[in-house]
Amino acid sequence: MDRIRIRGGRPLAGEIVIGGAKNAALPLMAAGLLTDERLLLSNVPRLADIQTMTALLQQHGIAVDPADNDGRTLSIGGAIGSTEAPYDIVRKMRASVLVLGPLLARVRAARVSLPGGCSIGTRPVDLHLKGLEQMGAQIDLQGGYIDARVEGRLRGATILFPFISVGATENLLMAAALADGRTVLANAAREPEIGDLATCLVAMGARIEGIGTDRLIIDGVEALHGAHHSIIPDRIETGTYACAAAISGGSVFLRHAQLEHLGATMRILREAGVDVTQEADGLMVRRLNGLHGVDVMTEPYPGFPTDMQAQFMALMSVAEGAAMVTETIFENRFMHVPELNRMGARINVHGASAIVRGVPTLSGAPVMATDLRASVSLILAGLAARGETVVNRVYHLDRGYEAVEQKLAACGAEIERLPS
Ligand code: UD1
Repeated sequence: MDRIRIRGGRPLAGEIVIGGAKNAALPLMAAGLLTDERLLLSNVPRLADIQTMTALLQQHGIAVDPADNDGRTLSIGGAIGSTEAPYDIVRKMRASVLVLGPLLARVRAARVSLPGGCSIGTRPVDLHLKGLEQMGAQIDLQGGYIDARVEGRLRGATILFPFISVGATENLLMAAALADGRTVLANAAREPEIGDLATCLVAMGARIEGIGTDRLIIDGVEALHGAHHSIIPDRIETGTYACAAAISGGSVFLRHAQLEHLGATMRILREAGVDVTQEADGLMVRRLNGLHGVDVMTEPYPGFPTDMQAQFMALMSVAEGAAMVTETIFENRFMHVPELNRMGARINVHGASAIVRGVPTLSGAPVMATDLRASVSLILAGLAARGETVVNRVYHLDRGYEAVEQKLAACGAEIERLPS
């Protein structure tokens, strides 16, 4: 298994190009199941999770072909041959469950492996299933699989989510696009990736109102057609490299980053002492003075994202004063804490909150990545640490960060991948 070695202490300087959003690309690829025609997606990031979704679509009989030289535009389409999403693919990536709504809407049957637990918590899919049942689907759970079918078309329904779920909103939005009648999704998630999905569905012929709000109104149509859609820049990659600039005491231009998608992230970084300015086609991020501790609580968009929690904690570990970081979305998302503490951080976890007491410097150490965002938080810590840090199990990182070591090295970081 590959490892990444970093020798810390160099301020970053230069430019990093922000890629297309992973969490927008995955549901957009699943939307390719909704039509016979070709869906062209551009600005697709080159990531392991995209390969997993490609394998899943291919398993359903759908062709996924590169439509440009660098593989960032994908052409998706074809007839659905198999309605089964097997355990071997779903266990690698929870977002595989996003094929459920589209398969059911288009061919009226789906057999999708239950995703099961993952390192950051149990993460059930009950909201996805209840919503589809409200739309007329019959769902049985057996042998670790969701067996779903519907007589005729799915039917429009009013679905009030008891709490906010990104994936359930996406699955039901795609299902509703082809349902018979009107669907209202109330207390829907408002993440920019959902707006991106809805915009693409509209380009495919869907009728959706309320895009960008927590109430989506969808008037189902009988068929959708092909479209060409360009994926929004990744706001989590943006926030991560903003933390990299800040923790290293440097200044980096984040090309293509969009301030309006960043919600609370940039406000919190500014409160912590990071200078962020909007420029043409990107954001300039600098650390001018010292960092200070700021309390944060993860929340659905536009609140502070759970996917930025680990990176922000790494930053707070070298800030002046204390910061309380509270995780409200996932129950087990502090696995980076013992690893950061091995590098000299002073972090104590009390239930859903962690108290981070800033230290003047971290020291390099061998550490273990446990999930996607945890792994990148260790890289950030390594950039600031004295001496050498080796991050093991970097396959987590490759799921969500394209060429992280090249992007950081181009800004002066001493970082390299050690192949297994
Ligand atoms: C998506 C993102 C992930 C991010 C998360 C929260 C993708 C591919 N992944 O994940 O990176 O961390 O949003 O912003 O976009 N829940 C239930 N029942 C359900 C669905 C969810 O109890 O049916 C719970 C989950 O366990 C979790 C919370 O709701 O505690 C939020 O999960 P959700 O918003 O659905 O996250 P994902 O769509 O899985």
